Amino acid sequence: MIKMNRKVIFKDLTEVPALAPLILKWRNSPEVRAQMLRQHLISEEEHARWLETVSKAGASTFVRVAFWGDRPFGVVNLSDVDRAFSCALWGLYIGEPDLRGRGLGKALLAHLLFWGFEELSLYRLYASVLEKNTAAQVLYGKAGFRDEGVWKGHVLTERGRQDLLWVGMTAPEWPRYREKAKNWLL
Ligand SMILES: CC(C)(COP(=O)(O)OP(=O)(O)OC[C@H]1O[C@@H](n2cnc3c(N)ncnc32)[C@H](O)[C@@H]1OP(=O)(O)O)[C@@H](O)C(=O)NCCC(=O)NCCS
Repeated sequence: MIKMNRKVIFKDLTEVPALAPLILKWRNSPEVRAQMLRQHLISEEEHARWLETVSKAGASTFVRVAFWGDRPFGVVNLSDVDRAFSCALWGLYIGEPDLRGRGLGKALLAHLLFWGFEELSLYRLYASVLEKNTAAQVLYGKAGFRDEGVWKGHVLTERGRQDLLWVGMTAPEWPRYREKAKNWLL
């Protein structure tokens, strides 16, 4: 856990458009790409098309960039935001390798929980994680996410087919984990 007088803050991607190339670099880096559902190298054109669709009025995908002090280091997103069902799929990653394993993943996940349950008042937050991504599975379990099922061999990766594990948390469960998440916000 980083115990310094820097803070983690979040900015909507639309506020920091100049970071678009850095985000593409992070997303295409081997460590991040290997944990994503879609593992192909994303072209600049595909990235530009994606940027056009996020965080706009009426969009169903919202992206925030995390900064440690003034240094951008990661991304959190809510996608498939379904207002009728009051549910959203979330995702996160740390793009800067030297800032992994230092408590910042917890800060990202805590932010997502407060964003989903308290800013947006959603009923259910859910995510998927590859079977070999132990770090993320342990993190999500510690935050209070429960296993919701497995899609056997669903993802074709460079290391062969992997199961896709689903985890979720509902609003009635959130108060039990809220204090812990609050302590994870840096
Ligand atoms: C997954 C990821 C977000 C975790 O962030 P992080 O900053 O490395 O994690 P933290 O330091 O906050 O650790 C949080 C907890 O996760 C667990 N954890 C972290 N790394 C772990 C590892 N290699 N093995 C097992 N558990 C691990 C620990 O329980 C840790 O809690 P602790 O420090 O109290 O023991 C980050 O490693 C990452 O971005 N990886 C690449 C992309 C990715 O996998 N994204 C998620 C896709 S589903």
